Amino acid sequence: MKTVHSISEVQSAVAALKAEGKRVGFVPTMGNLHDGHLTLVEKAREVCDVVVVSIYVNPLQFGPNEDYDSYPRTLEQDSQLLIEHDVDILFTCQTREIYPEGSENHTHVSVDVLDGMHCGKSRPGFFTGIATVVTKLLNIVLPDVAVFGEKDFQQLTIIRKMVRDMCMPVEIIGAAIAREATGLAMSSRNGYLTREEREVIAPTLYQCLLDAREAIIAGERDYDLLRRNAFAKLAEAGFKPDYFNISNTRTLLPAAAEDQSLVILAAGHLGKARLIDNIAFDL
Ligand code: PAJ
Repeated sequence: MKTVHSISEVQSAVAALKAEGKRVGFVPTMGNLHDGHLTLVEKAREVCDVVVVSIYVNPLQFGPNEDYDSYPRTLEQDSQLLIEHDVDILFTCQTREIYPEGSENHTHVSVDVLDGMHCGKSRPGFFTGIATVVTKLLNIVLPDVAVFGEKDFQQLTIIRKMVRDMCMPVEIIGAAIAREATGLAMSSRNGYLTREEREVIAPTLYQCLLDAREAIIAGERDYDLLRRNAFAKLAEAGFKPDYFNISNTRTLLPAAAEDQSLVILAAGHLGKARLIDNIAFDL
């Protein structure tokens, strides 16, 4: 694996591979890699000849009281995992190069229509930060394919729309959610949890999604009732629930009773972590 630390280095490394006719797959991450990230790497490997992974904790997508400073940075361990997974290029970016004039003094990309709901509602600026850095990373690496996880369903939907709207020449592929044995979706932020929170309480989030899906499949259409039930169950378990929204898979707007393709998106605070999860299904 070749590790590069600057925009020009990654550009020339990718250009050389493309000149050899290689199809390039790209997996952007913020590091502290787990099996969820590695699923994305494997997916990229399936459809491409070479795989590029970036590790960059993007300050623009963290709010003023969020965990930018404490976000886990484990480059050495990540690098080892990527070598074991046959990654060709690891690109670690530096903020002084990504935002040379400061992240606020930079052109921003926003996908307004999808931003005002779910995580965007509780985290103002979050998706503008993501859309901006993902645009930059895609323009720097110029991959044929980029892989994102369904774990961050709203992020994936926003990136797909942005790429379509802005005619960006890249194919976006989604990868299924990797879960721990308890059902808890893997996340770098699970490391903030105590052992009891992680093993006993956190899996309730997925359990609530499964319960709501089962009720809908059985014919329940009172989505507000399902939301209230989930909030009550999450609060009882020890969560501070943020949202539990039953939505149309394509628009992410509240699902209508006749919608056939649904996604339930949920978020809540537990101990020091804010956890998100979702389940998408067709009726
Ligand atoms: P990060 O949270 O590191 O996630 C990187 C990629 O891994 C994202 O596409 C995310 O959806 C995916 N991922 C995380 N946990 C997963 C899981 N349990 N199963 C499947 N995929 C999972 O998402 C980001 O970083 C950033 O917002 C980024 C896109 C890199 C922009 O800064």
